[in-house]
Amino acid sequence: MEILIEKFGLYEGINEVIGITFGGWINTAPIGLIVGDDIRVRLYSNHTRELLEKSGMLYVNVVHDPIVFVISAFEDLGEEWFESLEPPVIKGSLSWMKFRARLDGNFAVLDLLEGDVLRKEVRAVNRGFNALIEATVHATRYILSGSETLADKIRYYGRVVERCGSRREKEAYNLLVKYAGLD
Ligand SMILES: Cc1cc2nc3c(=O)[nH]c(=O)nc-3n(C[C@H](O)[C@H](O)[C@H](O)COP(=O)(O)O)c2cc1C
Repeated sequence: MEILIEKFGLYEGINEVIGITFGGWINTAPIGLIVGDDIRVRLYSNHTRELLEKSGMLYVNVVHDPIVFVISAFEDLGEEWFESLEPPVIKGSLSWMKFRARLDGNFAVLDLLEGDVLRKEVRAVNRGFNALIEATVHATRYILSGSETLADKIRYYGRVVERCGSRREKEAYNLLVKYAGLD
């Protein structure tokens, strides 16, 4: 029987989640799972792609913690960030999933094997959180190019974080500024 992906919190469009892959270490990175006729992820040249190619497996956590997004965008979360390692579950995750992953050009096509819902959360849209995610996406590109246009975009989203975010989003943004060398 096919498992419905919505059950785990993934809907049509691009779902920003934390991808977890295993090599000799636990590799964590924000990735965008594209849900359409199938489930796939576009992968640039990074550790997630490298490890996924070797293992054929990808774990995913649905998380709402902005600090988790920022740290895993620039380095890997240490074991202390996890509430479980088998399966890998970052503290506070709403759900986890395990996918079989097959590379197809720039994409990995994903087949859901198993997963679980751990928490359910009622939460209004917060522009500060959304802006933090936008800033983090730009920052992962900024560190590769040093583009001033990207730096301006990051600062723009930073102002939205300041205006609309909670303390945690503001803390995450300050961390991002340090990782990106924008302070
Ligand atoms: C919200 C968000 C979504 C991202 N989505 C992707 C993605 O779909 N594919 C990708 O290759 N990189 C994506 N990135 C960038 C990677 O997370 C980033 O390059 C990371 O450093 C890769 O880590 P790794 O080398 O451990 O795989 C995204 C970043 C953010 C902040």
